[in-house]
Amino acid sequence: MAAIRASENPRPVEPRLRRFNVRSDLDAVMQFQYEVYETNFPGFRVDRHFQDDYRWDLRRAARDSREVMYVLEEGGHLCGFICGALMTTLVESSVGYIKNVYVAPHLRGSGQAERLMQACEQWLSDQGVSKIMLDASVINERAVGFYRKIGYTVERVRMVKRPCNRAGVSDESDG
Ligand SMILES: CC(C)(COP(=O)(O)OP(=O)(O)OC[C@H]1O[C@@H](n2cnc3c(N)ncnc32)[C@H](O)[C@@H]1OP(=O)(O)O)[C@@H](O)C(=O)NCCC(=O)NCCS
Repeated sequence: MAAIRASENPRPVEPRLRRFNVRSDLDAVMQFQYEVYETNFPGFRVDRHFQDDYRWDLRRAARDSREVMYVLEEGGHLCGFICGALMTTLVESSVGYIKNVYVAPHLRGSGQAERLMQACEQWLSDQGVSKIMLDASVINERAVGFYRKIGYTVERVRMVKRPCNRAGVSDESDG
């Protein structure tokens, strides 16, 4: 009985996790950036200039020994991407930075984002980093929840105040 049940509901095959290949993966990874950037920077639209710059940066990163990129592949199609880099800060000579992470909508909540993060974190850790950092937009509650779930905490906070026109104050000088 158990064997029949197992064959009726075969375990889904996990996507393949592998290093980014600039020749075969560039276009698919570019497509992911619409959601990544337009969700996390409200009002921003991915345009031709951004695409050109991003493509250039992916090609550069692929040759840079201080950066690492992994993809998830399923049935010949990419369904995930992560990019990490080595950096220095004012007080630390080698820290890791997660620059970008994306998982296709149908795989969200399935643990694939964590798989990508673990691969990237392992690579950064193997390079001897003292910590791993990333930035997130507070409006992206799912991403913030995900980072918290896998152990990230808030170290710095970017605070914002929108300037308003001060009534009765003129920019023109008296003279
Ligand atoms: C961010 C991303 C990689 C996370 O992957 P994911 O598979 O969606 O993440 P998970 O489902 O494993 O984890 C999300 C966790 O956040 C929390 N969460 C989910 N929805 C949430 C919400 N609306 N508000 C707050 N927390 C939420 C939950 O704790 C959830 O974990 P749990 O359900 O296992 O308890 C993925 O959503 C994605 O690719 N988004 C689009 C690209 C993007 O915005 N990237 C981030 C750039 S900073």
